Amino acid sequence: MTTSITDTLHRPLRDLRISVTDRCNFRCVYCMPKEVFGRDFQFLPPGMLLTFEEITRLARIFVALGVEKVRITGGEPLVRRDVEKLIAMLSALDGLHDLTLTTNGSLLARKAAALKDAGLRRVTVSLDSLDDAVFKAMNDVDFPVARVLEGIEAASAVGLDPIKINVVVKRGVNDHCLVDMARYFHGKGHILRFIEYMDVGATNGWRLDDVVPAAEIIQKISAELPLEAVDPNYSGEVARRYRYTDGGGEIGVIASVTQPFCGACTRARLSSEGKLYTCLFASHGHDLRALLREDKSDEEIAAVLGTVWNNRRDRYSELRTKNTKPQHVEMSYIGG
Ligand code: GTP
Ligand code: 5AD
Ligand code: SF4
Ligand code: SF4
Repeated sequence: MTTSITDTLHRPLRDLRISVTDRCNFRCVYCMPKEVFGRDFQFLPPGMLLTFEEITRLARIFVALGVEKVRITGGEPLVRRDVEKLIAMLSALDGLHDLTLTTNGSLLARKAAALKDAGLRRVTVSLDSLDDAVFKAMNDVDFPVARVLEGIEAASAVGLDPIKINVVVKRGVNDHCLVDMARYFHGKGHILRFIEYMDVGATNGWRLDDVVPAAEIIQKISAELPLEAVDPNYSGEVARRYRYTDGGGEIGVIASVTQPFCGACTRARLSSEGKLYTCLFASHGHDLRALLREDKSDEEIAAVLGTVWNNRRDRYSELRTKNTKPQHVEMSYIGG
């Protein structure tokens, strides 16, 4: 039976974002800078990660509490061995309406068919530029654009549609590439989304000056390819939608800095070691792995989740100011 729980701001729990690994084969400068995530960086050892059985058990309990949508994240989720087996286990859960995954696309050409067969509905691919020099400078591992585009095409060919393409926009780094990206994806049926660069984690050296406001992004693109605003698909949708007036499809902007959306935030995040975070910017997580490994019953775990959610008061982005910057966990750990 599904019950519905709400937090102190009357927000229900609807989405669960599950990180399956803290590792990634990219070193995006805004997420896992090499100076911090170098050769000696201690990633979580395998025994600390939740097993697929543990993740599925938790997901089943979350669904009973109102979760309708699960997104698999990382690090890079496709570097977790046999991740398609987890997808198959999750896709068999009753009551889950949407099952998707956010990837950097590097392994997608190889994995798309297996993911689709396992029951994945759609994918979101991160791609910050179509210019090889810019993209390589951002991923910092010399990864070429063409191989991400191959991944997107492979996903499209097996029907993981509609594909969303996430672009993190950083001023002076890739903001001159946005119109090119819009032109390239115009009419292709994929949904390009521009994300304001956020102050996630403690290592990316974020400054407000690095943020290109969503309004500016829309203005730039609309000057070349006219756009009009579209209503959200669902209440609490993170992206603001726009469509090309010539019928060339839609794009989105995620204005987490200039127009925060905490008021409708229904997202919980589970780290790969089984900690539950009630905000992308949280500094503490609730250890669910301990409960699983102490042989607590589903009812006992559900009671803990209910209490954590009932007490939730997070609205970091709405409270963000230039000079207030508490410690919070890394994006590569919590998965975006
Ligand atoms: P769909 O609408 O289901 O496709 O997903 P989504 O809009 O939630 O998109 P996705 O999960 O790909 O999120 C895109 C980006 O938005 C993330 O990578 C984050 O950068 C940002 N984002 C997503 N959720 C939150 C959130 O709760 N808070 C903040 N501040 N940013 C978020
Ligand atoms: N600000 C905004 N988005 C970010 N992502 C990673 N770090 C940041 C940041 N600092 C995005 C990635 C990917 C998703 C998982 O999160 O580009 O699309
Ligand atoms: Fe990896 Fe994604 Fe972080 Fe880039 S943004 S380092 S692809 S987890
Ligand atoms: Fe939700 Fe926290 Fe993001 Fe606000 S900052 S939208 S509360 S995850």
